[in-house]
This record gives sequence, C-alpha cells and structure tokens, in this order.
Amino acid sequence: MPHTNQNWQDQKFCREYAEQWDIDSSEVHYGWLSPGENILQLLTCLQSDNGKFDDIAVLDIGCGMGENLIALSCCGACCFGVDISTYMIEYAKKKVGKSEVLKKIELECHDMRDFKYYSGIQFDLVLSIYSMEYLQSLDEFRAMLANIFSRLKSGGRFVFCFSHPLQHSMHSRLHNISALSGDSQGATLIYSFRDVVEGLSSAGFEIERVIEQSTQNPSQLTKEEAMSFPYRFHKGKNPCQKKFDSFSNSAPHTVVYRARKPKERSKLRPIDLFAGLNAGVLRLWGQNRTVTDAQDIQVGSDMLPVYQLASKDNVVFIAPVLQKTCQTTSAKNQITVKLQSGVNRKINSSCLIGIVHKQLISMDYQPIYSSMDASSESNNPIYLVRVDPVYGKLRILYPSQEMGLLLFVNGEELLNGAVSADHYFPVKDDVIDLIYIATGWGTQWRPSEDIQQLKLFNESGGD
Ligand SMILES: C[S@@+](CC[C@H](N)C(=O)[O-])C[C@H]1O[C@@H](n2cnc3c(N)ncnc32)[C@H](O)[C@@H]1O
Repeated sequence: MPHTNQNWQDQKFCREYAEQWDIDSSEVHYGWLSPGENILQLLTCLQSDNGKFDDIAVLDIGCGMGENLIALSCCGACCFGVDISTYMIEYAKKKVGKSEVLKKIELECHDMRDFKYYSGIQFDLVLSIYSMEYLQSLDEFRAMLANIFSRLKSGGRFVFCFSHPLQHSMHSRLHNISALSGDSQGATLIYSFRDVVEGLSSAGFEIERVIEQSTQNPSQLTKEEAMSFPYRFHKGKNPCQKKFDSFSNSAPHTVVYRARKPKERSKLRPIDLFAGLNAGVLRLWGQNRTVTDAQDIQVGSDMLPVYQLASKDNVVFIAPVLQKTCQTTSAKNQITVKLQSGVNRKINSSCLIGIVHKQLISMDYQPIYSSMDASSESNNPIYLVRVDPVYGKLRILYPSQEMGLLLFVNGEELLNGAVSADHYFPVKDDVIDLIYIATGWGTQWRPSEDIQQLKLFNESGGD
C-alpha cells in the first residue's frame, strides 16, 4: 500500500478525529468553517424538479464518516464511498445503519490512488471533500483528475474542496506552485490555483464554480455559532488557536471547485439536418426553421442542394457547399492563398481556412478571400468571401440578395465574427461544414419581389 502522509490508517488518530468533529448528515457539507449545500447550492444542477437526486450515482472519495453519502442517499442518490481508513469505513457503516437512507450505500476501504473501486460504474457526481490534500504530489493529483474524469458520465460533476492556499503560512514561499506544506508527518499538499485550473483543464474538465469561503475569528466561535455550519466541532473541542484567527480573517479558509465533464460534442452536421428533407421544420442555430422546398442545382459536375425557407424566416435559403471530416492534424506545411487585393499570403495548411481551402480546390471551386487590412496582412486574419462557381450560380438566381458564408465545426458556428478561420486549428475527427446563406436582413438585402426566390424552385435551377 503506498505511503500516505497523515495518520488515517492509525486507529487512535481517527478516533480522535471522530471525537472532535460533529458532522450533520442532513445536508452536504464542504468542510470546516464552510456553509453547506443549503447555502452554496452546488448540487442543484443534479436535482430533478422535485428537489430529489433521483437515482443519480455518486462517488465520495475519502468519504470519512459517510455524512455526505447519507445526506445524498436520503434524497434518492445511489451512493458509493471509498476511504483509506478502515476505522472511517467501519464508522461510516455504523452511521449509515442508524440512518433512514432511501438507497443502499456501498462503502469500501481503498486508497483513492488505486482506482480499482467500483469499476464499471459511471457517476453523475464525484465528491472529494478535504481528501485530496492528503495526496503526495502533483502527479498523483493529476492522475486522480484523469481517473475521475474517466469515471464520470458525460455532463457529470466533480465537486471538491481543500484549504485555500492563502491559509498556509508557507504560501509566500510557494510562488504559486503546489507543494507539501512541510516535511513532517502531518504535511498536506497545498494546491495553487494555477495547478488546479491547469490540472482540471488538461484532464478535460470545464470549471464551473470556484468559491472562496471565509469565516471570521474561528477560535472565538461558540458551539452555538458553530452549529450554523454542518461540519462543526463537538462541544469544547474547537481546535482553533487564537493565532489562527489572523490567517482566517485575512484570507478565505476553504476553496471549493465545481467542474463538469463536458457533454459529448455534437457531431451533428448542419448539412445532415437537411438530408432527404423537402418540407418540414428543422432546428438550426437554436431556432425552428421551416423548409418549404428543396432543389438540386448543377454546379460544375456537382449537384448542389439548395433549401428554401419559409418567407417569414430571416434566412431565405441555405446551400451546403462543403462537408469534411478532418483526418489528421499532423501536416504543418504552408500553403498560399490569393487575396482579393491580388496579394499572395501564406497560411498554415492545418488551420481551418487551410483545410477548407485544400478541400475546395480539390472540388474545382475557386475560394476568394478578403483580408482585414491588406497593408498588414501578416498580422490580420483572413476570411473566406465566397466560393466560385457556387457564388456565381446563386447570384444569378438571387440577383438582388447579398449572400453570406457560414463555417461550422461540429455543428457549431465557431467563427461568428470573433475568431478567424486561420487562427482556429481543428483536430482529428472534427466535422467542418461550409454553408451559403441568403438572408432577408436589411432592406437592401430583401428582393423587390418574392418571385426572385420562387424562381429557383419553380424552374429547373436557371442559369
Ligand atoms: C479530513 S477527512 C474528510 C472526510 C470527509 N470527506 C468529510 O468531509 O467529512 C479526510 C479523509 O480522507 C481520507 N483519505 C486520506 N488519504 C486517502 C487516500 N489516499 N485514499 C482514500 N482516502 C483517503 C481519510 O481517511 C479521511 O477520512
């Protein structure tokens, strides 16, 4: 069994801990001196409308005496706990036995670092309340984060807390780098914000909440005042020395994080939404859009599908031009594109515009690019202006209507005016779509007569 730097396998140490702390199991707690779930409301995102945790699967890592699992089970969650201490696990089992839990609580004695517990179960929520500071190194912490990420369902939450880094007298020597607080047996790992944020991000998490929680003058708390927190000391057992008050009053005591495993990215292609569609409602850009008609037009040797939308829609028609799945991101060579100004510009072949460019050229289309400022092209992003001969073809069909181009990656419009296509690097398996739209926005964009739009669908495509 790997070494741990505190005495959690020592029965006497654990008994003293249990005698000192009186933990309420009617709400989830976030450690000493911190308000509990009733105030922080970190788990409401997992509750159903009736306020219950209907059958969600919860893993509590370093569950101690089991109070959080009891609180969650009483609200309908299926609970699983691990702790390195046999004393704590036995204590938790007794406590669970005396509680009116709705669901069975599984408890097992494991070192959190062995990762063998409850294999095969995917969790909606993983909790680690003041337990990861007993890890030995940042590498162990990163390995924990990666394992927790893999054990969460997509969209699942990871809620954890430990001492705020500013609470440690060693802080000024840490230079924002996580480190053990000392060489002694009782040393805990102090995590810097940077290491937590980087660790979570590289494991794939999105950080949703960071709460810095302070409580004033903890040494002076009476038992009655302490009772306002779910994690409090037993009468006469306040462990706080007066000198600790100055730390507590000048810096938060606890830092609580809530992170989310992102939902699977949609591989839905906007183009797929139209497949086989002739008339009906489709959902695009978060809105219902009614397609009234669809027709293929000949462009070179290709048939290009063009979809007309209901006249009340701002988008008049949509024409998918390109669909491509990225195969590899390894090619880093430069390619040359010609800007409208006639200037040649080199771009990276694996950026979004580079990938789109290569694909369009292989389809015998002529992509035309603009530059924000031709005089300083090297610093400015380039935008795809139009794709010929598609543009020419559609222009004939819609002579008085301006057309726009939309670039999607994995069904989402990334560019949206903010990110340019040569600053964005798709990765393998990303799905890229390029779509022409004509909109009814602005008077000059509106055709004088509806006939112009209808023509496309009444005739065989025109020319
Ligand atoms: C301060 S207590 C917190 C207990 C509980 N999370 C709570 O908030 O009431 C820390 C817990 O982490 C457990 N722990 C420490 N190192 C561990 C490890 N390597 N694996 C599993 N549990 C560990 C200890 O046994 C102890 O129960």
